[in-house]
Amino acid sequence: MSEGISRRTFLKISGAGAAAGASGFHLPSAEAATPSVDTSRTVLPYPSRAVGVAARMPVNQVVAFSYPDAASPCAAIKMGTAVPGGVGPDKDIVAFSTLCTHMGCPVAYDAGTKSFKCPCHFSMFDAEKSGQMICGQATENLTRVQLSYDAKTGSIMAVGIEGLIYGRQANIL
Ligand code: FES
Repeated sequence: MSEGISRRTFLKISGAGAAAGASGFHLPSAEAATPSVDTSRTVLPYPSRAVGVAARMPVNQVVAFSYPDAASPCAAIKMGTAVPGGVGPDKDIVAFSTLCTHMGCPVAYDAGTKSFKCPCHFSMFDAEKSGQMICGQATENLTRVQLSYDAKTGSIMAVGIEGLIYGRQANIL
């Protein structure tokens, strides 16, 4: 390789670098690239969201809400009798994601059988038994929403998710 070619190559390279600098292109600073959440945690924090007031929730009827974000439909139900995992003064309030664990169709609550039914491939989930799968194509129980109860105000709050919401790699996006 001759000295002339090397010089020409050098000038081309340094010219491109100067053009990039002049165009205002800058690498992001370490500060700008810092995410707003602590990614060193293995579990990102869930928001706390009001679902209803226990004394005012209708028995055996769906109270619809979304959690942990607007794209995740959920249903809370005051079963009327204490159930496993139930919260509130009577330990009878539970909540679930209403996306079927088979392929994500929206499930509907059937008050007669106290179960969620999927219209797509007919899976059924027991609302009184932690969303346990009764039958159908699904192989996993309905995803549960963790609730907390404030005895002073009577408020029921959504505070977390047990399991993975259908179609997501993480519940918190
Ligand atoms: S999507 Fe619900 S059973 Fe298939």
